[in-house]
Amino acid sequence: MNLLHTQGLKVYFRHKEKTVKALDGVDIFLAKGITTALAGESGCGKTTLARTILRFQEPCSGKIYFQGKDIALNQNLYLVRKNIQIVFQNPFLSLDPRYTVFASLYETLGVFKRMKKRESKFFINQILRDVELNEDVLYRYPHQLSGGQIQRVCIGRSLINHSALVILDEPTSSLDITTSSKIIRLLERLQQDKAITFLFISHNLKLIKRISQFCFIMYYGKIVEAGPTDLVYNKPLHPYTKLLKEASLLQLKSLPDSEIPEAGCAFLPRCSQRRAECKKGVIKKEAEAGHFAFCNLYK
Ligand SMILES: Nc1ncnc2c1ncn2[C@@H]1O[C@H](COP(=O)(O)OP(=O)(O)O)[C@@H](O)[C@H]1O
Ligand code: SF4
Ligand SMILES: [Mg+2]
Repeated sequence: MNLLHTQGLKVYFRHKEKTVKALDGVDIFLAKGITTALAGESGCGKTTLARTILRFQEPCSGKIYFQGKDIALNQNLYLVRKNIQIVFQNPFLSLDPRYTVFASLYETLGVFKRMKKRESKFFINQILRDVELNEDVLYRYPHQLSGGQIQRVCIGRSLINHSALVILDEPTSSLDITTSSKIIRLLERLQQDKAITFLFISHNLKLIKRISQFCFIMYYGKIVEAGPTDLVYNKPLHPYTKLLKEASLLQLKSLPDSEIPEAGCAFLPRCSQRRAECKKGVIKKEAEAGHFAFCNLYK
Protein backbone atom coordinates (compact mmCIF):
# COMPACT_ATOMS: atom_id res chain seq x y z
CA MET A 1 0.00 0.00 0.00
CA ASN A 2 1.16 3.55 -0.69
CA LEU A 3 2.15 5.61 2.33
CA LEU A 4 0.91 8.79 0.66
CA HIS A 5 -0.96 9.71 -2.49
CA THR A 6 -2.35 12.91 -3.94
CA GLN A 7 -5.33 13.29 -6.23
CA GLY A 8 -5.80 16.24 -8.56
CA LEU A 9 -3.82 18.60 -6.33
CA LYS A 10 -4.03 22.24 -7.44
CA VAL A 11 -2.23 25.27 -6.00
CA TYR A 12 -2.65 28.57 -7.86
CA PHE A 13 -0.91 31.83 -6.93
CA ARG A 14 -2.07 35.26 -8.05
CA HIS A 15 0.75 37.45 -9.36
CA LYS A 16 -0.73 40.89 -10.14
CA GLU A 17 -2.93 40.27 -13.19
CA LYS A 18 -2.03 36.65 -13.85
CA THR A 19 -2.40 33.29 -12.18
CA VAL A 20 0.59 30.96 -11.71
CA LYS A 21 -0.49 27.33 -11.68
CA ALA A 22 2.25 26.02 -9.38
CA LEU A 23 0.41 22.67 -9.11
CA ASP A 24 -2.14 21.90 -11.78
CA GLY A 25 -3.78 18.58 -10.97
CA VAL A 26 -0.91 16.58 -9.46
CA ASP A 27 -1.36 12.86 -8.78
CA ILE A 28 1.64 11.23 -7.12
CA PHE A 29 2.04 8.21 -4.86
CA LEU A 30 4.84 7.26 -2.48
CA ALA A 31 5.41 3.57 -1.78
CA LYS A 32 6.54 2.73 1.74
CA GLY A 33 10.21 2.05 2.46
CA ILE A 34 11.73 3.28 -0.80
CA THR A 35 13.07 6.55 -2.19
CA THR A 36 10.76 8.21 -4.70
CA ALA A 37 12.11 11.20 -6.60
CA LEU A 38 10.44 14.31 -7.94
CA ALA A 39 12.38 15.97 -10.75
CA GLY A 40 11.97 19.12 -12.75
CA GLU A 41 13.76 22.40 -13.41
CA SER A 42 13.52 25.44 -11.19
CA GLY A 43 10.03 26.96 -10.86
CA CYS A 44 8.12 23.81 -11.89
CA GLY A 45 6.39 23.48 -8.50
CA LYS A 46 8.54 20.98 -6.56
CA THR A 47 8.79 22.97 -3.32
CA THR A 48 5.11 23.93 -3.56
CA LEU A 49 4.22 20.23 -3.66
CA ALA A 50 6.42 19.57 -0.59
CA ARG A 51 4.90 22.52 1.30
CA THR A 52 1.38 21.41 0.40
CA ILE A 53 2.00 17.86 1.64
CA LEU A 54 3.33 19.39 4.88
CA ARG A 55 0.21 21.60 5.08
CA PHE A 56 2.25 24.80 5.08
CA GLN A 57 0.32 25.64 1.90
CA GLU A 58 -3.42 25.12 1.40
CA PRO A 59 -4.39 23.58 -1.95
CA CYS A 60 -7.12 25.22 -4.07
CA SER A 61 -8.49 21.73 -4.67
CA GLY A 62 -7.50 18.08 -4.63
CA LYS A 63 -6.80 15.51 -1.95
CA ILE A 64 -3.80 14.22 -0.02
CA TYR A 65 -4.09 10.84 1.68
CA PHE A 66 -1.47 9.78 4.22
CA GLN A 67 -1.67 6.33 5.79
CA GLY A 68 -5.14 6.19 4.25
CA LYS A 69 -6.36 9.37 5.98
CA ASP A 70 -7.30 12.68 4.34
CA ILE A 71 -4.71 15.07 5.80
CA ALA A 72 -6.49 18.18 4.52
CA LEU A 73 -8.80 17.71 7.53
CA ASN A 74 -7.69 19.62 10.62
CA GLN A 75 -8.36 16.63 12.85
CA ASN A 76 -5.56 14.79 11.00
CA LEU A 77 -3.01 17.61 11.22
CA TYR A 78 -1.23 15.82 14.09
CA LEU A 79 -0.48 12.95 11.66
CA VAL A 80 1.38 15.37 9.40
CA ARG A 81 3.37 17.05 12.17
CA LYS A 82 4.31 13.73 13.78
CA ASN A 83 5.08 11.75 10.67
CA ILE A 84 6.26 14.03 7.87
CA GLN A 85 9.52 15.95 8.11
CA ILE A 86 11.45 18.04 5.60
CA VAL A 87 15.12 18.81 5.00
CA PHE A 88 15.47 22.10 3.10
CA GLN A 89 17.87 23.14 0.39
CA ASN A 90 19.75 25.80 2.34
CA PRO A 91 21.22 24.37 5.54
CA PHE A 92 22.22 27.83 6.82
CA LEU A 93 18.57 28.92 6.97
CA SER A 94 17.33 25.66 8.47
CA LEU A 95 18.60 25.85 12.05
CA ASP A 96 17.84 28.57 14.60
CA PRO A 97 21.13 30.51 14.97
CA ARG A 98 20.42 31.04 18.70
CA TYR A 99 20.27 27.28 19.38
CA THR A 100 23.15 24.84 19.85
CA VAL A 101 22.91 21.50 18.02
CA PHE A 102 21.78 19.92 21.28
CA ALA A 103 19.05 22.53 21.80
CA SER A 104 17.73 22.14 18.24
CA LEU A 105 17.56 18.35 18.51
CA TYR A 106 16.15 18.48 22.04
CA GLU A 107 13.38 20.83 20.92
CA THR A 108 12.36 18.48 18.08
CA LEU A 109 12.51 15.45 20.36
CA GLY A 110 10.40 17.27 22.93
CA VAL A 111 7.53 17.88 20.50
CA PHE A 112 6.30 14.30 20.82
CA LYS A 113 8.17 12.90 23.81
CA ARG A 114 8.16 14.46 27.24
CA MET A 115 11.72 13.91 28.30
CA LYS A 116 14.22 15.41 30.68
CA LYS A 117 17.42 16.79 29.15
CA ARG A 118 19.50 14.05 30.74
CA GLU A 119 17.32 11.25 29.29
CA SER A 120 17.29 12.89 25.87
CA LYS A 121 21.08 12.70 25.61
CA PHE A 122 20.92 8.99 24.81
CA PHE A 123 18.63 9.61 21.79
CA ILE A 124 20.54 12.67 20.65
CA ASN A 125 23.91 10.89 20.79
CA GLN A 126 22.40 7.97 18.89
CA ILE A 127 21.13 10.27 16.14
CA LEU A 128 24.53 12.00 15.90
CA ARG A 129 26.12 8.59 15.35
CA ASP A 130 23.48 7.79 12.69
CA VAL A 131 24.40 10.90 10.71
CA GLU A 132 28.13 10.31 11.34
CA LEU A 133 28.77 13.41 13.45
CA ASN A 134 31.14 13.56 16.35
CA GLU A 135 29.80 14.40 19.82
CA ASP A 136 31.95 17.51 19.92
CA VAL A 137 29.44 19.36 17.67
CA LEU A 138 26.76 19.04 20.34
CA TYR A 139 27.25 22.41 22.01
CA ARG A 140 28.19 24.35 18.91
CA TYR A 141 26.00 26.97 17.23
CA PRO A 142 25.18 26.79 13.49
CA HIS A 143 27.79 29.45 12.59
CA GLN A 144 30.45 27.17 14.11
CA LEU A 145 29.58 24.31 11.73
CA SER A 146 30.25 23.67 8.03
CA GLY A 147 27.38 23.43 5.51
CA GLY A 148 27.79 19.64 5.40
CA GLN A 149 27.70 19.36 9.21
CA ILE A 150 24.56 21.51 9.41
CA GLN A 151 22.86 19.41 6.74
CA ARG A 152 23.73 16.27 8.77
CA VAL A 153 22.14 17.87 11.85
CA CYS A 154 19.03 18.67 9.76
CA ILE A 155 18.87 15.08 8.48
CA GLY A 156 19.27 13.84 12.08
CA ARG A 157 16.50 16.18 13.21
CA SER A 158 14.18 14.82 10.50
CA LEU A 159 14.77 11.25 11.76
CA ILE A 160 14.86 11.71 15.53
CA ASN A 161 11.14 11.08 16.04
CA HIS A 162 11.04 8.13 13.61
CA SER A 163 8.86 9.98 11.11
CA ALA A 164 7.24 7.81 8.47
CA LEU A 165 8.12 10.15 5.58
CA VAL A 166 11.07 12.48 5.08
CA ILE A 167 11.02 15.00 2.23
CA LEU A 168 14.47 16.04 1.01
CA ASP A 169 14.09 19.27 -0.99
CA GLU A 170 17.30 19.58 -3.06
CA PRO A 171 19.31 18.74 0.08
CA THR A 172 22.71 18.90 -1.62
CA SER A 173 22.31 21.68 -4.17
CA SER A 174 23.94 24.36 -2.03
CA LEU A 175 26.91 22.15 -1.04
CA ASP A 176 30.22 21.63 -2.86
CA ILE A 177 30.65 18.45 -4.92
CA THR A 178 32.67 16.48 -2.34
CA THR A 179 30.35 17.34 0.57
CA SER A 180 27.33 16.67 -1.62
CA SER A 181 28.49 13.17 -2.53
CA LYS A 182 29.18 12.36 1.14
CA ILE A 183 25.63 13.48 2.05
CA ILE A 184 24.19 11.35 -0.77
CA ARG A 185 26.11 8.31 0.52
CA LEU A 186 24.77 9.00 4.02
CA LEU A 187 21.19 9.22 2.74
CA GLU A 188 21.60 5.95 0.80
CA ARG A 189 22.91 4.18 3.88
CA LEU A 190 20.19 5.56 6.17
CA GLN A 191 17.49 4.58 3.70
CA GLN A 192 18.81 1.03 3.45
CA ASP A 193 19.48 0.56 7.18
CA LYS A 194 16.17 1.99 8.37
CA ALA A 195 13.90 1.44 5.32
CA ILE A 196 12.85 5.09 5.51
CA THR A 197 10.40 6.47 2.95
CA PHE A 198 12.10 9.41 1.26
CA LEU A 199 10.69 11.88 -1.24
CA PHE A 200 13.86 13.19 -2.88
CA ILE A 201 13.46 16.43 -4.84
CA SER A 202 16.04 17.50 -7.42
CA HIS A 203 16.55 18.92 -10.91
CA ASN A 204 19.44 16.49 -11.46
CA LEU A 205 18.37 13.33 -13.26
CA LYS A 206 21.74 11.60 -12.76
CA LEU A 207 21.43 12.03 -9.02
CA ILE A 208 17.88 10.78 -9.11
CA LYS A 209 18.98 7.70 -11.03
CA ARG A 210 21.49 6.95 -8.31
CA ILE A 211 19.31 7.50 -5.28
CA SER A 212 15.71 6.62 -6.18
CA GLN A 213 13.74 3.54 -7.16
CA PHE A 214 10.71 5.36 -8.59
CA CYS A 215 10.38 8.87 -9.98
CA PHE A 216 7.97 11.55 -11.15
CA ILE A 217 8.98 14.18 -13.71
CA MET A 218 7.16 17.50 -13.35
CA TYR A 219 6.81 20.39 -15.81
CA TYR A 220 4.99 23.60 -14.90
CA GLY A 221 2.77 22.07 -12.24
CA LYS A 222 1.96 18.85 -14.10
CA ILE A 223 3.42 15.35 -13.93
CA VAL A 224 4.61 14.53 -17.47
CA GLU A 225 6.24 11.13 -16.86
CA ALA A 226 6.58 8.61 -14.04
CA GLY A 227 7.87 5.11 -13.49
CA PRO A 228 10.64 2.96 -12.06
CA THR A 229 13.68 5.24 -12.19
CA ASP A 230 15.81 2.84 -14.28
CA LEU A 231 13.15 2.79 -17.01
CA VAL A 232 12.53 6.54 -16.92
CA TYR A 233 16.27 7.23 -17.13
CA ASN A 234 17.23 4.60 -19.69
CA LYS A 235 14.08 4.71 -21.83
CA PRO A 236 12.59 8.20 -21.35
CA LEU A 237 9.28 8.72 -23.12
CA HIS A 238 8.54 12.43 -22.76
CA PRO A 239 10.64 14.97 -24.72
CA TYR A 240 11.03 16.99 -21.50
CA THR A 241 12.55 14.01 -19.64
CA LYS A 242 15.01 13.57 -22.53
CA LEU A 243 15.93 17.25 -22.29
CA LEU A 244 16.44 17.02 -18.52
CA LYS A 245 18.66 14.00 -19.00
CA GLU A 246 20.80 15.45 -21.77
CA ALA A 247 21.08 19.12 -20.90
CA SER A 248 23.27 20.55 -18.19
CA LEU A 249 21.55 22.93 -15.80
CA LEU A 250 23.11 25.90 -17.59
CA GLN A 251 21.53 24.84 -20.86
CA LEU A 252 18.06 24.53 -19.35
CA LYS A 253 16.18 27.75 -19.93
CA SER A 254 12.75 27.65 -18.37
CA LEU A 255 10.15 29.87 -20.03
CA PRO A 256 8.39 32.78 -18.33
CA ASP A 257 4.93 31.77 -17.09
CA SER A 258 3.34 34.06 -19.69
CA GLU A 259 4.62 31.76 -22.46
CA ILE A 260 3.09 28.59 -21.07
CA PRO A 261 -0.01 27.68 -23.14
CA GLU A 262 -3.32 27.86 -21.25
CA ALA A 263 -4.58 24.64 -22.88
CA GLY A 264 -2.95 21.52 -24.30
CA CYS A 265 0.65 20.49 -23.63
CA ALA A 266 2.62 22.97 -21.50
CA PHE A 267 5.86 21.82 -23.14
CA LEU A 268 4.65 22.68 -26.66
CA PRO A 269 6.69 25.92 -27.15
CA ARG A 270 9.94 23.98 -26.48
CA CYS A 271 9.03 20.72 -28.23
CA SER A 272 10.59 19.95 -31.63
CA GLN A 273 8.13 17.07 -32.12
CA ARG A 274 4.91 18.99 -31.48
CA ARG A 275 1.80 18.23 -33.53
CA ALA A 276 -1.43 20.07 -34.21
CA GLU A 277 -3.37 18.06 -31.60
CA CYS A 278 -0.89 19.04 -28.84
CA LYS A 279 -2.62 22.44 -28.66
CA LYS A 280 -5.82 20.73 -27.54
CA GLY A 281 -4.70 18.13 -25.02
CA VAL A 282 -2.41 15.22 -24.24
CA ILE A 283 -2.99 11.50 -23.86
CA LYS A 284 -1.61 9.20 -21.17
CA LYS A 285 0.48 6.35 -22.49
CA GLU A 286 1.66 3.44 -20.35
CA ALA A 287 4.68 2.02 -22.20
CA GLU A 288 5.53 -0.71 -19.68
CA ALA A 289 3.90 -1.71 -16.42
CA GLY A 290 4.00 1.33 -14.14
CA HIS A 291 5.96 3.52 -16.62
CA PHE A 292 3.79 6.20 -18.22
CA ALA A 293 3.95 9.61 -19.88
CA PHE A 294 1.49 12.28 -20.93
CA CYS A 295 2.42 12.95 -24.55
CA ASN A 296 0.80 12.62 -28.00
CA LEU A 297 3.88 11.03 -29.56
CA TYR A 298 2.60 7.66 -28.35
CA LYS A 299 -0.95 7.88 -29.70
N1 LIG B 1 4.21 31.73 -1.82
C1 LIG B 1 4.18 31.97 -3.13
N2 LIG B 1 3.53 33.05 -3.62
C2 LIG B 1 3.46 33.27 -4.94
N3 LIG B 1 4.03 32.48 -5.87
C3 LIG B 1 4.71 31.40 -5.46
C4 LIG B 1 4.82 31.09 -4.06
N4 LIG B 1 5.55 29.94 -3.94
C5 LIG B 1 5.87 29.57 -5.19
N5 LIG B 1 5.38 30.44 -6.11
C6 LIG B 1 5.50 30.32 -7.58
O1 LIG B 1 5.09 29.00 -7.92
C7 LIG B 1 5.94 28.46 -8.93
C8 LIG B 1 6.57 27.17 -8.43
O2 LIG B 1 7.53 27.50 -7.43
P1 LIG B 1 8.34 26.39 -6.58
O3 LIG B 1 7.35 25.42 -6.05
O4 LIG B 1 9.19 27.10 -5.62
O5 LIG B 1 9.21 25.68 -7.71
P2 LIG B 1 10.54 24.77 -7.60
O6 LIG B 1 10.67 24.33 -6.18
O7 LIG B 1 10.29 23.66 -8.56
O8 LIG B 1 11.66 25.65 -8.03
C9 LIG B 1 6.93 29.57 -9.29
O9 LIG B 1 6.42 30.27 -10.40
C10 LIG B 1 6.94 30.42 -8.06
O10 LIG B 1 7.27 31.76 -8.39
S1 SF4 C 1 2.32 16.31 -26.24
FE1 SF4 C 1 3.08 17.14 -28.19
S2 SF4 C 1 4.07 19.10 -27.66
FE2 SF4 C 1 3.81 17.93 -25.77
S3 SF4 C 1 5.73 16.87 -25.48
FE3 SF4 C 1 4.38 15.46 -26.54
S4 SF4 C 1 4.76 15.80 -28.74
FE4 SF4 C 1 5.67 17.55 -27.62
MG1 LIG D 1 12.32 24.49 -4.85
